[in-house]
Amino acid sequence: MHIDLFLHPAPLNRESLENKAIVVIDVLRFCTTVCTALRAGARGVIPTDGPGEAGEMRVKIGADMALVAGERNGVKLESFKFGNSPLEFTADSVGGKYLIMTTTNGTGIFTRAYKANPVLACALVNISKVADRIAREKRDLIIVCSGHEGSFSIEDTICGGMLIHLLMNRHGKDITVNDAGSLALLLFESNREAIGQTIAQGEHARFLTSIGFGRDVEVSSEIDAVPVLPVLKDGRLVLEEN
Ligand code: MLT
Repeated sequence: MHIDLFLHPAPLNRESLENKAIVVIDVLRFCTTVCTALRAGARGVIPTDGPGEAGEMRVKIGADMALVAGERNGVKLESFKFGNSPLEFTADSVGGKYLIMTTTNGTGIFTRAYKANPVLACALVNISKVADRIAREKRDLIIVCSGHEGSFSIEDTICGGMLIHLLMNRHGKDITVNDAGSLALLLFESNREAIGQTIAQGEHARFLTSIGFGRDVEVSSEIDAVPVLPVLKDGRLVLEEN
């Protein structure tokens, strides 16, 4: 298996996704939120490109079956019921409903990645589930780090490096990686004893903490705390049993 890791989403635009598997990583916070909402019993999470599209999708699905959620600059959109904090999504709030979401970095990657198969959502909270699923894959893999505001983020890169590490343990010598993948692996290896601390010192975590979401940073740093496997099917992230 060959793995190309992208430190931010831009290279995705020039890549052919046919016959590739994709793992999209957004530790802070979209993919952590997806895992949490699906574990709480949401029927699916639907990534959209903006508030307008999210609203139209809600009408299409039926307002009684669908909730809208999302953020800009980390903060809940004004007319939306929920923001992007994983702590908002409980059985009471989302059980049995579709969650239609728009976020600054994460959701738009899923709307562009649909030509790959499978397309998986990965965060630290579900990383072993993703590694187990990809270890069975014969196709080459693209790991897209969502990053922050279009550039590199330390939390997604560490998570990408950890995923490569887990896949190397499972595949052994059969894996080759691009240089960004090697960099991510080195970053993970040199921080593996202090992942939570390193993430908390990063730009995105400091920003979230400054606007009152410090607890989100903590729960998003808990490895394998939400062991579910979200996979994109017909534009919806749903649970895949493995
Ligand atoms: C995103 O997708 O842009 C994020 O999850 C941002 C955030 O809410 O922290």
